Amino acid sequence: MKGGKPLVGEVNISGAKNAALGIIAGTILTDEDVLIENMPDVSDTNIMLEALRELGASVCRIDSNTVRINARSIGHAAIDDDYLRRIRASYYFIGALIGRCHEAQVPLPGGCVIGSRPIDQHIKGFKALGAEVEIENGSVVAKASALTGDEIYLDKVSVGATINIMMAAVLAEGRTVIGNAAKEPHIVDMANFLNSMGANIRGAGTDVIRITGVTRLHGTEYSIIPDQIEAGTFMCAAAITGGDVTVRNVIPKHMESISAKLEEVGCTIEEYDDAIRVIGNKDIRPTNIMTLPYPGFPTDMQPQITTLLALSGGTSMVVESIFDNRFKYVGELTRMGANIRVEGNVAVVSGVKEFSPARIFAPDLRAGAALVLAGLAAGGITTVSDIEFIQRGYEHFEKKLKGIGAEIEIVRSEREARKFVMKVG
Ligand code: EPZ
Repeated sequence: MKGGKPLVGEVNISGAKNAALGIIAGTILTDEDVLIENMPDVSDTNIMLEALRELGASVCRIDSNTVRINARSIGHAAIDDDYLRRIRASYYFIGALIGRCHEAQVPLPGGCVIGSRPIDQHIKGFKALGAEVEIENGSVVAKASALTGDEIYLDKVSVGATINIMMAAVLAEGRTVIGNAAKEPHIVDMANFLNSMGANIRGAGTDVIRITGVTRLHGTEYSIIPDQIEAGTFMCAAAITGGDVTVRNVIPKHMESISAKLEEVGCTIEEYDDAIRVIGNKDIRPTNIMTLPYPGFPTDMQPQITTLLALSGGTSMVVESIFDNRFKYVGELTRMGANIRVEGNVAVVSGVKEFSPARIFAPDLRAGAALVLAGLAAGGITTVSDIEFIQRGYEHFEKKLKGIGAEIEIVRSEREARKFVMKVG
């Protein structure tokens, strides 16, 4: 990309990846057709849809963002596919298969290396419902003669465990209560999706979720909520380039912690029913960030906001309280001239005047997006490699950035890179 110019225009936000991943697994819980709209066309969701097919479900893509699924013909509850190891959300098949078949065999999750990512709270929930769960040859193997509702208090607020236990509990006998539940927008979306299939889930979005088991779930048509993190990433793009960008098809309430921080650093925020306009300010002010479960500042926005603060006029403190290794990208930012000191899960960010362009590598999904923002802020030509991480969670990222004026292209060879440089001069 060639950076250094303000991004201006409107960008349409896609469906939420982290809602879509749970919803895709949740289609296993009925024998009837499920039509899902606003499905983001990203590699993580496409891998999950592929895994559904391998389980025996029929998956028919109506268009790039609409898919019809029927899981009637799922014949077995074992997925032993290396393909699935690559993504974190493979664990959602455990809850869904336990809920439907009372058994599951699923590889332990892969995903971004942003820290140790245990699933002990998921397993705690499955065991409370009556499943026996073992780890055998790198897979989670679960079996339940019956599933009976129970009270489960999560030791840690966990998005994945909350969604997984919901799926295992919706067809269980009796009532399940999940205490210390995650409250993210995609938790509410998952509960709304399951309720649209006839489940009985109350309290999603609060820290106590009550589920009354039902005997069966029916088909549904469901549209996924907009992606809070994709929207926040484009809002940061406006801020870091001193631009003027309107993100469309968002739910402003979901964006509150991000909007508040962008105002603190000097941006002007205009909220509409389903859009937010961000007008950047060339003088970025420092501020402090602590990532927290929703409605706190999201950990998935930490690399993006830290990159913005690296260009502020002072010193900021960023505390990453969710994951234990989510500052790996700082080394790459340093190569662009950033001045950031990381001690454990705290980063002290001393703002610099500008970034210098460089060849950098995306270490994971959200850090990759943040490094693209850094390249768009820096003058000159920056190359970000390993962009398949970014393509896991951002639909047509470079096209959407081009749509607001970025000079950016995906190049697959040195020759294509040289052609791009010639073109942009
Ligand atoms: C989901 O991961 C998201 N991924 C992550 O987004 C997101 O960062 C995270 O929630 C927090 O919001 C998907 O939804 C696919 P957690 P998840 O369980 O469910 C610990 C992205 O960029 N924990 O809420 O894995 C865990 O180690 C990705 O889109 C346990 O100790 O996150 C972490 O420290 C990155 N035991 C904390 O809890 C468990 O059993 C929160 O994890 C589960 C989690």
